[in-house]
Amino acid sequence: MSMPRSRLPLPLLLLPLALAACDGGGGRMAAALSDDAGGDPAPMPAAPVPTPDPPLPPLLTDQVIVAHRGASGHAPEHTIPAYDLAIQMGAEYIEQDVLPTADGVLVCIHDDTLDRTARGPAENCTGNVSDKTLAQLKTCDFGSWFNEANPERARPEYEGLQIPTLEEVFQRYGQSAKYYIEIKPNTSTDGSVEQTLLDLIAEYDLYEGMLAERQVLIQSFIPSSLLNVFTLEPEAPLVQLYAAGATFTAPLAASYSFGIGPNTTEVELNPLMVEEAHALGLAIHPYTINSEEDLAAMAARCVDGLFTNFPDRYRQVLVDNDFGCPAPIR
Ligand code: G3P
Ligand code: CA
Repeated sequence: MSMPRSRLPLPLLLLPLALAACDGGGGRMAAALSDDAGGDPAPMPAAPVPTPDPPLPPLLTDQVIVAHRGASGHAPEHTIPAYDLAIQMGAEYIEQDVLPTADGVLVCIHDDTLDRTARGPAENCTGNVSDKTLAQLKTCDFGSWFNEANPERARPEYEGLQIPTLEEVFQRYGQSAKYYIEIKPNTSTDGSVEQTLLDLIAEYDLYEGMLAERQVLIQSFIPSSLLNVFTLEPEAPLVQLYAAGATFTAPLAASYSFGIGPNTTEVELNPLMVEEAHALGLAIHPYTINSEEDLAAMAARCVDGLFTNFPDRYRQVLVDNDFGCPAPIR
């Protein structure tokens, strides 16, 4: 099935208890939606999507490898090279954090502000993402910061990389990839971002795969964002994120979620968290684990998968070790 773009708008659930339980946040309204990007940004380059070559060895422990912001330990986060590399390294999901631009386009970027990862004209490339049009953002360079911060991994071709829209990501990978999309805190609470996201998933023929095979997972720290999606599509697979120190509300999350995404420190502090999640039928995907030692230790806890900036390292841990875990929930 595919959701028609006209399927709008439904009343949105409010669940104050859930709102209080997790990371708080919420508040800023997204700008009015518009099809006009206010400019003529250059299209993303069309190039063959790389696949692992040679084929990667099988996993001894089957867990879900989530490339956090792409293979962001190796390439600038939320750029096409970071997503390409993640797929090449055998990540099962590529993660997108999405924010709406001033003209209502969902772009892939983690921070609310441009200051850490964008370089370029100050009027376009500093300040809040949501205050800029897509055309403005397309004038910014999202790769040079990585070269400056990571000289040992710097590559000339990272200079000048553009911010991808979520649509451009779907155009590039289509049904060949699996997407783990985060609705960020501080986006609209009126459901417009959630509706735009579901519309885009439908437009790119990912809707059936999302429902039947979890080709798309939708995550958020903000329960109301997930409940907005739940209201629009009760079958959508959702992942409730928990910040460090947040109250763990697995039974509540189980009423609307496929899984949970706790901060790794919470899993370390609560050895029963994995069992508790599994007892409720919830997948558990901690974030963000990067060293080989930490990856192996977390994998040995029999989580269902995890977020890492280094999908190659995590994959190698899973290739080298049979941790005797049950089949992951996926
Ligand atoms: O979505 C899991 C993890 O990415 C949450 O942390 O801040 O990197 O989005 P953050
Ligand atoms: Ca994220």
